[in-house]
Amino acid sequence: MKRLTSLLVVLLLMTSFAYSQMSKTGLNQDAKYAEQVDSVLALMTLEEKIGQLNQLSGDGEVTGPISLNNESQEAIRKGHVGSMLNINSSSYTRKIQKIAVEETRLGIPLIFGYDVIHGYKTIFPVPLGESASWDLEAIEKSARVAAVEATAAGQHWTFAPMVDIARDPRWGRIMEGAGEDPYLGSEVAKARVRGFQGADLEKKNTMVACAKHFVAYGAARAGRDYNTVDMSKRKLHEVYLPPFEAAVEAGVGTFMTSFNELNGVPVTGSKKHVKGILRDDWNYDGLIVSDWGSVMEQVVHGSAKDLKEAADYAMNATVDMDMEGHAYLPHMKELVEEGKVTEEQIDAAVRRILHKKFELGLFDNPYRYSDEELEKEVTLTDEHRQLSRDVARKSMVLLKNDNNILPMNAEVKKVAIIGPLADAKREMIGTWSAQGEAKHVVTLLEGVKNALPDAEINYVKACEVEDSDKSGFDKAMQAAKEADFVIAAVGEKAMMSGEALSRMDIGLPGVQEDLVLELAELDKPMAVVLFNGRPLVLTEVDKAAPAILESWLPGTEAGNAIADVLLGKYNPSGKLTATFPYSVGQVPIFYAHKHTGRPRTEARYTSKYIDGPNEPLYPFGYGLSYTDFDYRDLSLSNAELTTDGTLKVSVQVKNAGDMEGEEVVQFYVRDLEASVTRPVKELKGFKKIALKPGEKKTVEFTLTPEDLAFYNRDWEWTTEPGTVKVFVGGDSQNTLEAEFDLKE
Ligand code: BGC
Repeated sequence: MKRLTSLLVVLLLMTSFAYSQMSKTGLNQDAKYAEQVDSVLALMTLEEKIGQLNQLSGDGEVTGPISLNNESQEAIRKGHVGSMLNINSSSYTRKIQKIAVEETRLGIPLIFGYDVIHGYKTIFPVPLGESASWDLEAIEKSARVAAVEATAAGQHWTFAPMVDIARDPRWGRIMEGAGEDPYLGSEVAKARVRGFQGADLEKKNTMVACAKHFVAYGAARAGRDYNTVDMSKRKLHEVYLPPFEAAVEAGVGTFMTSFNELNGVPVTGSKKHVKGILRDDWNYDGLIVSDWGSVMEQVVHGSAKDLKEAADYAMNATVDMDMEGHAYLPHMKELVEEGKVTEEQIDAAVRRILHKKFELGLFDNPYRYSDEELEKEVTLTDEHRQLSRDVARKSMVLLKNDNNILPMNAEVKKVAIIGPLADAKREMIGTWSAQGEAKHVVTLLEGVKNALPDAEINYVKACEVEDSDKSGFDKAMQAAKEADFVIAAVGEKAMMSGEALSRMDIGLPGVQEDLVLELAELDKPMAVVLFNGRPLVLTEVDKAAPAILESWLPGTEAGNAIADVLLGKYNPSGKLTATFPYSVGQVPIFYAHKHTGRPRTEARYTSKYIDGPNEPLYPFGYGLSYTDFDYRDLSLSNAELTTDGTLKVSVQVKNAGDMEGEEVVQFYVRDLEASVTRPVKELKGFKKIALKPGEKKTVEFTLTPEDLAFYNRDWEWTTEPGTVKVFVGGDSQNTLEAEFDLKE
């Protein structure tokens, strides 16, 4: 065994370093590693190659002796494992890596994957919250911090970003993405890939990203996780695919296929979608991993007769790695012998896996990421906490602020903090909180106390998030009556959004709405602070409460960030990236809908509900500030746009209030005369600007015909002549409008 390992080392040293300028990641495998990869491949038996395609889950144990079960350890020793997920900490990853390196015939290192979704130890807001910052730099930095902490703890590969478009707030995983819009979703996808992977994957503090879940997972019918998806080709290409394509453009290192079936075929086994779109149309040559058991689940879906057929479909769809599916390992050899899968296909998959290991430098030093000293040094640093606090406050959305009740006066003497989420550490970091720990969290109660050391703070929990017991209400009302300002901290628990956490009723759970309504009756200055991982139905809360701040699940620095916003140390600038419905019966509801042949009017036979509005409670792009922004002078550089031309769209934005603030200026279009129906508005650009009181800025957007292209009736990607409307404003409903002619 030692001899073979030495042989491998010699071969590696002998290989030449043919540098190429190609992307280091997904789009084109870097030719630099091709010979090295081939030199390893040449030494491998078919069984060892198949072993590389297998990914097993560990036990998540952080420290102590190896607790991985014997079966998994034995599988590693036999060369039956190419990757592990859920192995945590530098010391533990080192121990497990040692088995692969020292006890297998070829000593090929493992690649460790983990769900580092919104932070590793320092937890940032849930991704839906982060996206509401519309601040791509902040989003990138958050992913960077996550990668710095995770890589020092031995992780090489994160299963993020989730770039699934989600238009149904019942779906629990809406929390994990960037909301409903493909343009914004694409920008956020790129920012997060850049953040995780950095400029150079060879660096020790960068990790491989994974665009997931390919594809249409977010369109689960009725918002129920893992449910089936039936979708038109147009919707798939216009709405659900763009963020994945953007991830490829950003050089994402890996992709994950989804659990769902799409039009009758589970995507993990769909050659048409995985090979056809990802590999053939987009030239993506990176590693594709299945979702947990999604190779095997084809059998449960009823579209593969057994594990062997499931493995056959997935491999022929070019899924390289079987995550906890236990289908490739036992059946791939037989499939090769039967000619259903060729050895060239296996080699291609193994190449992609080895390539990542080379890129990460694991063949040079398999333990280079498992650095205990570094892990201590870079984890949960003050700088990381500060960044988390900053991203958290940038993510918050001010939904209502009657009579400028917020910001609170810093001289306030008595504050009542009421509600089950005011002092609930664990709930602040969400379900996918990696190694985040409740003990490090600053709650709203603590944050307000830090910010107002001289005020009398009276905290009453009042009720639980979920049950129906109102016996704590009296005490809460008493505290509120005596206070100068009331803060109600309500919403969802962490375990109410995320995987397998779909809800039918997306109102405030339990008796929390009653709590807010009763508090509001006291007519005190009051702000409702919401904690949740999805859009909620807040219609009654909106009617009653004078101020509402959406804080999402804000992460480790939750309370400090909220206090910054409540007290005006930070002027809120977040805007919703997913529509908040007026009623759950409107779901799915999103701004970029079609017009219909009978758009709503008062007339009887038009497209509407008879018991409520078509409009949501809060639209996409909506969010208030403590100042006012005044939009004027929308102008176009030309009345026409020709096929090879560009059009400049500009608007003047003025801070008309008396507080400095940031505004997300949003730019939408509508094609009025296409041969196929087009959405009533489509986001085509945005800019986040900062303005001092009284300051004005001209904001400019550039439009090219390509930005207006779509699939026509004959499924050709094209533009068509006709009138196009442009809209610019501070949300998707309140906009200035102009028109131009798109020429042939
Ligand atoms: C999820 C993935 C995740 C994987 C590994 C699955 O259940 O759908 O998003 O990356 O588990 O933890």
